[in-house]
Amino acid sequence: MSKKRVLTGVTTTGIPHLGNYVGAIRPAVRAAQADGTESFLFLADYHGIIKCHDPEMIHTSTQAVAATWLACGLDPERTTFYRQSDIPEIMELNWILGCITAKGLMNRAHAYKAAVQENLDKGQEDQDHGIEMGLYSYPILMSADILMFKANEVPVGRDQIQHVEMARDIAGRFNHRFKEVFTLPEVKIDENIELLVGLDGRKMSKSYGNTIPLFETEKKLQKSVNKIITNLKEPGEPKGTDESPLFEIYKAFATADETAAFAQALSDGLAWGEAKKLLSAKINAELSDKRERYNELTANPAQIEDILQAGAAKARKEARVLLDEVRDAVGIRALR
Ligand code: ADP
Ligand code: TRP
Repeated sequence: MSKKRVLTGVTTTGIPHLGNYVGAIRPAVRAAQADGTESFLFLADYHGIIKCHDPEMIHTSTQAVAATWLACGLDPERTTFYRQSDIPEIMELNWILGCITAKGLMNRAHAYKAAVQENLDKGQEDQDHGIEMGLYSYPILMSADILMFKANEVPVGRDQIQHVEMARDIAGRFNHRFKEVFTLPEVKIDENIELLVGLDGRKMSKSYGNTIPLFETEKKLQKSVNKIITNLKEPGEPKGTDESPLFEIYKAFATADETAAFAQALSDGLAWGEAKKLLSAKINAELSDKRERYNELTANPAQIEDILQAGAAKARKEARVLLDEVRDAVGIRALR
């Protein structure tokens, strides 16, 4: 029986933080080790340039995100790990899919609709003011990413469900009109995903500037942890687990027993300062080896590049076969 194909992409617009690790990286690396699956993971840099127009950030982020995945245990022998922009076949497929995608479908995309709504709210006469084609056709490129490798399952965050459904729609339309070339992908949402809170108690997110970066030095980590908000309760006063985001972060890095012991210690009056030291130690215990590996990798970007190039070579072999089939199906073929 053929293996189940799992595919997902990560946009290269920032530096990974603890929330990305707990919610996306750690579970994905574990899932990629499962028998019976074949995984494809890529850096979505062409998606990155839609949202981020800072070339240095795109570049730095590409390196940081790639090094993070490798440091966290992604095995490039088992997972096909590549950079989207190294697979030119994806862009060719992107065009062909664009030629069968209804404009109305794109009008319904959440990200585009949100941008239009923002214009309307501001009283802009032109509802498309400042909206670029990249944002508008984002779901077509994402469909090309997914359909190119016949992905069966696409694990993503909730905000991306609609995009995977659009990929399914577009695949169905192509298969119906031309030939059964594409596999219909299914979206996979992990119901038990831990949503990590940030320094200020809201969801930890690049957009809120409330993150703890994953691989900063031990000293900086302690400094970030010290910024987590608490209340004014003194040492010795009983504290509840809901009185500071630090408990939830601790829980994401500890076993059930350790978490229960930590809750008990808080209730017995553990000082916030001590609690923060325990939290830093806990995070460190899980991340210090990975941090070392991350630092080695980022000190040697050529090594990361080699890994990505090997992944791209593997991916392109497959991409070529599918693209030839697609081109043939639409009538683009040699005259011999
Ligand atoms: P951000 O909100 O920092 O911009 P992204 O939207 O780039 O993060 O998310 C990348 C991945 O990390 C997604 O799979 C998302 O579900 C996960 N993720 C982001 N923030 C958190 C969080 N606070 N807790 C758990 N998972 C998160
Ligand atoms: N759009 C996704 C995000 O912002 C990233 C992405 C690009 C992706 N192409 C993909 C995810 C294909 C899954 C499959 O998170």
